[in-house]
Amino acid sequence: MIEISLQLIKALKQADSVVASTGAGTSAESGIATFRQSQTGLWSRFRPEDLATPEAFEKNPQRVWEWYQWRREQLRNVQPNPGHHALAKMAAMLNGFTLITQNVDGLHQRAGSQEVIELHGSIVRNICHRSRLEVELEHLEGDQHSPPRSPHHRQGLVRPAVVWFGEALPQAALESAIQASSRCQVFLSIGTSSIVQPAASLAEMARQAGSLVVEINPASTPLSSHADMVLQGKSGEILPRILELLAEPSD
Ligand code: OAD
Repeated sequence: MIEISLQLIKALKQADSVVASTGAGTSAESGIATFRQSQTGLWSRFRPEDLATPEAFEKNPQRVWEWYQWRREQLRNVQPNPGHHALAKMAAMLNGFTLITQNVDGLHQRAGSQEVIELHGSIVRNICHRSRLEVELEHLEGDQHSPPRSPHHRQGLVRPAVVWFGEALPQAALESAIQASSRCQVFLSIGTSSIVQPAASLAEMARQAGSLVVEINPASTPLSSHADMVLQGKSGEILPRILELLAEPSD
């Protein structure tokens, strides 16, 4: 059992605002491979970087669409894990809480988290590739074995509402994430390799604003040497433990 310092619990209770910023590791215990683990099964011959790009979609929309349909099928058999649930419950126990995620799997929302800032979009939703306007698949005709035609643009095809490599992050989400990270007193970096920008800079913004920066990850990352605290372990085990300690009366 990993030891959680009472200094962290006290800081969380006293903070006017706490930010939790999550990456793929938060979904690992739900059975979803993290981004930099190799792909499984029939998609193992592809790297995500070769599929999750606008060029790949324009070159072969069918292949990219099938890859996302396969990932969405995988998601149907996946549940939020104790780490997701702990974050959802933690929000109600703290003075102020903002959840930022790089994940597109929607598991935070399924665990009950509200107002999740999705920096890299969502695989659960769909947009028109040309106009970026949201598309409700259920309102479209057809079997969806191929990317449907967009209702918003004659040449547009429907695609998942995920930020692809080389695409800009949703501006409103990024601004909210930067604001929250620059104003919080505690910043939890959970299950992310802290490599991909601009998400990886949020912890530094928090540190520069004087926040207590805490990393929760079984492995070390470029953030580890800059964090005030490193809890080396799984988010699905550490977050429920933090929640238990938060629920204990303060002395
Ligand atoms: P990565 O796959 O890069 O990193 C996952 C991190 O989770 C690693 O540091 C693991 O050590 C850690 N990890 C694994 N199991 C864990 C567990 N049970 N509990 C806690 N941590 C665990 O995933 P991300 O950092 O999320 O962007 O990748 C960031 C972005 O890279 C993705 O959002 C994607 C990709 O480019 C886009 O698609 C735009």
